Amino acid sequence: MLQECPTQTLQRQSKFVLETARLQLRKPTLADVKAVARLANDRRIAEMTRRLPHPYAAADATHFIKTIAGAERETVFLIEHASTPVGMVGVDWADADAPEIGYWLGVDFWGRGFATEAARAVIDYTFSEFDGVTQLSSGARVINPASRRILEKCGFQWTGVELHRFLALGSSTPVDRFRLDRHVWASLKAWSNATRNPR
Ligand SMILES: CC(C)(COP(=O)(O)OP(=O)(O)OC[C@H]1O[C@@H](n2cnc3c(N)ncnc32)[C@H](O)[C@@H]1OP(=O)(O)O)[C@@H](O)C(=O)NCCC(=O)NCCS
Repeated sequence: MLQECPTQTLQRQSKFVLETARLQLRKPTLADVKAVARLANDRRIAEMTRRLPHPYAAADATHFIKTIAGAERETVFLIEHASTPVGMVGVDWADADAPEIGYWLGVDFWGRGFATEAARAVIDYTFSEFDGVTQLSSGARVINPASRRILEKCGFQWTGVELHRFLALGSSTPVDRFRLDRHVWASLKAWSNATRNPR
């Protein structure tokens, strides 16, 4: 699979971009390897994400970017703010019945609402672009209230706790699981303020 994607394509910046008020989301290329590795190489990120190794080297970023370049659907994005990479957000299709959204940001960019903004863009994109998707899933370690809050702000509902293996921990740990139903998303998108008519 990796050999099938020409390096030239991987080095060129993709024209496909999702834009939010403050962020641009685009497919990462090999030109982003250094930036991705620099951002991701932090134990505070790895311990909250299932598959990020720690330490996280340039070779890990290269492998990741080559892997997603060969993916069937373009749903993994580098998040940029003011042309600077700040993190990643994406949808994993391993469970086709409930594709899973995940995200992480470089520590310097925490606490500014970026993850919520990026997650909303990818949720909108996924439901709009892929008609067959009836629900999205996600998970956050039970000790990760920031991620839980993001999911709740995006309309996800808690479905239970599962044990999941985290690469950087080298063990399994409890994870709160969440679902966002397409109908709930559509309802939230359509919900607008009632206007009050003067009498
Ligand atoms: C989780 C993470 C993505 C949050 O990014 P962020 O841009 O700071 O998130 P946002 O600012 O959009 O939203 C965070 C929300 O959690 C809240 N929050 C943050 N820390 C919190 C805490 N300790 N307790 C309760 N709420 C908390 C914030 O106040 C905010 O909610 P608000 O907008 O209602 O005030 C970032 O910390 C990160 O990358 N962590 C490591 C990787 C990770 O956990 N990924 C998610 C696993 S799926």
